[in-house]
Amino acid sequence: MAGPLLEARDIWRTYPSGEGEVHAVAGVTLAVAVGEFVALTGRSGSGKTTMLNLLGGLDRPTAGQVYIDGVDLARLGDRQITRLRRERLGFIFQSYGLIPTLSALENVELPMHLRGWSWRQRQERAIETLKLVGIGARVSHRVYELSGGEQQRVAIARALSAQPGLILADEPTGSLDTATAASIWQLLLEIVRSSNVAVVAVTHDLSVRDYATRTISMQDGRLEAAS
Ligand SMILES: Nc1ncnc2c1ncn2[C@@H]1O[C@H](COP(=O)(O)OP(=O)(O)OP(=O)(O)O)[C@@H](O)[C@H]1O
Ligand SMILES: [Mg+2]
Repeated sequence: MAGPLLEARDIWRTYPSGEGEVHAVAGVTLAVAVGEFVALTGRSGSGKTTMLNLLGGLDRPTAGQVYIDGVDLARLGDRQITRLRRERLGFIFQSYGLIPTLSALENVELPMHLRGWSWRQRQERAIETLKLVGIGARVSHRVYELSGGEQQRVAIARALSAQPGLILADEPTGSLDTATAASIWQLLLEIVRSSNVAVVAVTHDLSVRDYATRTISMQDGRLEAAS
C-alpha cells in the first residue's frame, strides 16, 4: 500500500481582509490513512471548515499541496477534481444537503446515479447502506418526514453509498442532541472499522474524543496537539 490516503503538506489559505490578510489555514501538515477516524476540533473561526474544503478539493490552497491517493490536486483541473470527488469522496454537511421531497432511498441513490451505476445496483446498495446506518425501516419516507437524527443518518448513508475512500464531515452532529450525536460518532467509528475508508470530521463537540481514533485541535489556522 503506497502512502496515506490523504496528505496535506504545509497548506495555507489566505483571504484578503480590510487592512491585511487572514490566514484561515496557516501551514497545516497532516496525513490520514484508511481505518482512521480523525476528529478536527476547535473554536468557531479556527479554520476547520476552510481546512475541510481544502482537503476535499472544494477550495484550493494559497500555498502547499493536498494529495488524495498520492495525486496532487493542484495538478488536476476543475473537471478532474469534480470527478475525483465523485469517485473517491463522500461529504456530510451539518445542513444534511438532502432533497426534502425525495425519499431517503432516492437521496442515497444520487451519488451512485452520478457514477453511472445501474438501477438494480443502486437499489441494492441504497437499501444496504440505509440498513447499515440503522434506518432500514424508513427507506420510503420522504426526508421532510424524518427527524433531524434520521436525516443525518440518511446524509451519512448517501456519503457512504458510492463506496468512497474518504468521508469528510463538517459538524455532522451540529443540530443534534447529545445522545443522538453520540450515536452518530459511534456509527462513524463502526464505519471506519468495517469498511475500507477514512473519516475526517470537523466539530465543536469534544465528546467526539471518545470515538475518534485521533483528535486534533485547531487554533488560528494551525493544528495544535494530537491525542
Ligand atoms: N470566504 C472567506 N472570505 C474571507 N474570510 C473567510 C472566508 N471564509 C472563512 N474566512 C475566515 O477564515 C477564518 C476561518 O473560518 P472557518 O469557516 O474555516 O472557521 P470554522 O473553524 O469552520 O468556524 P465555525 O466553527 O464557526 O464553523 C475565519 O476568521 C473566517 O472569518
Ligand atoms: Mg465551520
